[in-house]
Amino acid sequence: NEDVYVLGIETSCDETAAAVVKNGREVLSNVVASQMESHRRFGGVVPEIASRHHVEQITLVIEEAMQQAGVSFAGLDAVAVTAGPGLVGALLVGVNAAKALAFAHGLPLIGVHHIAGHIYANQLVAEMKFPLLALVVSGGHTELVFMKEHGNFAVIGETRDDAAGEAYDKVARALGLPYPGGPHIDRLAHEGEPVIDLPRAWLEEGSYDFSFSGLKSAVLNALHNAKQRGEEIDPRQMAASFQASVVDVLVTKTVQAAKEYRVRQVLLAGGVAANRGLRAALQDKMKELPDVELVIPPLSLCTDNAAMIAVAGTVLYQQGKRADLALNANPSLPL
Ligand code: KG4
Ligand code: ZN
Repeated sequence: NEDVYVLGIETSCDETAAAVVKNGREVLSNVVASQMESHRRFGGVVPEIASRHHVEQITLVIEEAMQQAGVSFAGLDAVAVTAGPGLVGALLVGVNAAKALAFAHGLPLIGVHHIAGHIYANQLVAEMKFPLLALVVSGGHTELVFMKEHGNFAVIGETRDDAAGEAYDKVARALGLPYPGGPHIDRLAHEGEPVIDLPRAWLEEGSYDFSFSGLKSAVLNALHNAKQRGEEIDPRQMAASFQASVVDVLVTKTVQAAKEYRVRQVLLAGGVAANRGLRAALQDKMKELPDVELVIPPLSLCTDNAAMIAVAGTVLYQQGKRADLALNANPSLPL
């Protein structure tokens, strides 16, 4: 029973990250170089700038992760890297770094799906119990994923337009808040009351899909109309009302699906999992399912990081799944 050491690499969006994880459970290092400051003045991630930053940072970040972990390349069992989805130019930097390292040190190469990584971040908090349901909410994704065993992902619901985090960021921008706006809306929401009536997109009966663009438009229209009339909408009340709508739909559909699919565990994943309103509302609603365990990772494991990629990579490694040096970045990789 040998210990397994996996180096994870993640460059799908605007964080250059590397981490070493032991046995898929113990984080030995978790280094994240954020580019947020460089993208802020553009109000979103600029792909070309992201790629350049990754190129500048990747070697340093990997070295730092190896040093902090106190593991040599010879001591590794595999190199795992996010192969998609994400920005292709950004993904390529991580994929090429991983391929070079795997080739140079004769290590197995593992391609990891970014969403699988977000879900597997939970394994650093609690042992996964199948069947389970994961709500993945980030800047690029809003998905309900049913898993009946390791490595088996069934997307039972997804967004038809904006991702939850994307809606947060767009509404924040309209309220004059800096990018990324999610945390700012979260903070304002706690100072206000959800008194503004905003739509909730439930979609067809029984659907676990999501839609946030109508809600976003409703907020933008309300702000625009108020301005035309020379009136002022309290941003705290707008933030609270917007958040109430998003959280209501996310939590209701998640718990409904957890019931229908008779899961043993519900996992929360992705950057929006940091949202205090969402965490509290999900915890509360899960009281309807006292036998189902709710797992919510700490903040540092919710936003993009490489420890989650190393964990998912470890599971694939243990299942004997390997990529070869033809591994390519795939911006629309299916789960
Ligand atoms: O997972 P993540 O770091 O990157 C992606 O893979 O997209 O998620 C980033 C998203 C951003 O849209 C950000 O505004 C949102 O997560 N976010 C939040 C909060 N913290 C981060 N949204 C709502 N409330 C928060 N507290
Ligand atoms: Zn992500």
